[in-house]
Amino acid sequence: MTRTVIHGGLVVTAAEELRADVLIEGEQVVALAATGSSVADGWTADRTIDATGMYVIPGGVDAHTHMELPFGGTAASDTFETGTRAAAWGGTTTIVDFAVQSVGAPLRAGLDTWHDKAEGRCSIDYAFHMIMSDVNESTLKEMDLLVEEGITSFKLFMAYPGVFYSDDGRILRAMQRGADNGGLIMMHAENGIAIDVLVEQALAAGKTDPRYHGEVRRELLEAEATHRAIKLAQVAGSPLYVVHVSAASAVAELAAARGQGLPVFGETCPQYLFLSTDNLAEPDFEGAKYVCSTPLRPREHQAALWRGLRTDDLQVVSTDHCPFCFVGQKELGRGDFSKIPNGLPGVENRMDLLHQAVVDGHLTRRRWIEIACAAPARMFGLYPRKGTIAPGADADVVVYDPTARQTISAATHHMNVDYSAYEGREITGKVRTVLSRGTVVLDGDAWLGRVGHGRFQPRATCQYLS
Ligand code: URP
Ligand code: ZN
Ligand code: ZN
Repeated sequence: MTRTVIHGGLVVTAAEELRADVLIEGEQVVALAATGSSVADGWTADRTIDATGMYVIPGGVDAHTHMELPFGGTAASDTFETGTRAAAWGGTTTIVDFAVQSVGAPLRAGLDTWHDKAEGRCSIDYAFHMIMSDVNESTLKEMDLLVEEGITSFKLFMAYPGVFYSDDGRILRAMQRGADNGGLIMMHAENGIAIDVLVEQALAAGKTDPRYHGEVRRELLEAEATHRAIKLAQVAGSPLYVVHVSAASAVAELAAARGQGLPVFGETCPQYLFLSTDNLAEPDFEGAKYVCSTPLRPREHQAALWRGLRTDDLQVVSTDHCPFCFVGQKELGRGDFSKIPNGLPGVENRMDLLHQAVVDGHLTRRRWIEIACAAPARMFGLYPRKGTIAPGADADVVVYDPTARQTISAATHHMNVDYSAYEGREITGKVRTVLSRGTVVLDGDAWLGRVGHGRFQPRATCQYLS
């Protein structure tokens, strides 16, 4: 069994910061000891990684990705192969992707399809949530089976009528089932029925540019749906996790519910923290690059999101990575914003953007690790195997250079998409070395990873409630 020592870095977890050496045997962390102590100096190793001047952090856990997602007549451009490799380049060592149930088909069929897409193709570990497009007696029963085999969270949509949409009755029934079997309901909270009316009216008025995507998907309709989802969860007696929160008023709904002691949780994404409707309004159809749902909001919303992350009214930052190339994919919506495939690339950028938030004073270092590694792992039943550096944890470790400078660009990124949503943005901090279960998959500019190294990770139920 290979013994690796990571020597001399500042180990940062959600709980603490310490100057320590990390001993890894095979795939797991086995010990930490103060750098220079007799214990650490006594360790022998096959390989020593010098982390002097570096942070030693848990590999990122991105709990919201959509590799190869079919959407709007096309499919997300990253495969599990390209997307997991790009994730590793950005310091993320676990993704939780969304398997999709098609209307009329069993959950099992959707799950099998996603296993087939991912198995043998990932460079880092992966797990699945299940998108429920069709809540009925049979799929409710299937939920129990999926929970037993480690698919312990289920996404429902209050948006996209005719595609993924569930009405309130179906949502309530899924929540009741989740309350019984431990499955966590994840909610896309936007009032899709009302949005579709506004889309139709906008198009009829000749408003076809990408910026109208943001205008019709009104903040009020995110807040209303968030409120309704919280009330339905309260009636069902179930916890609730609201995905991709973008509006300040939706954060307020979550904060109010949490103030009442309700087990409701929220996730936001880098695009809502760093981008805004200014991007959606970029001329020459460039705004299409920023079309996602929930939509980008006016920049004034960002302060509420940062505050929510600091006060723990938002617990997780995931990417909702769902890339579509500008040429040939986003362009499907020229002349009709409602035909622009929804989604942004970002799986490679999350850890760096959030480190920049540390540099800019929005977050502490430990909070950075909490929202990007530990909290998603706990929320989705992967902790402490993932999300921390501790004896017994998987040796998913990133050696991070906090002073290196980089400029984000499509010219240098590894995601399979022809643009970057953060083109030209300067970042302080850069991933130097990445280990996935004890194997060095990235060292400086050298990719050492292997397709198929990544393993499916069955998950426990939400650990955030205990
Ligand atoms: O625009 C988005 N978010 N695309 C991916 C699907 C979803 O709703 O998460
Ligand atoms: Zn969604
Ligand atoms: Zn998504």
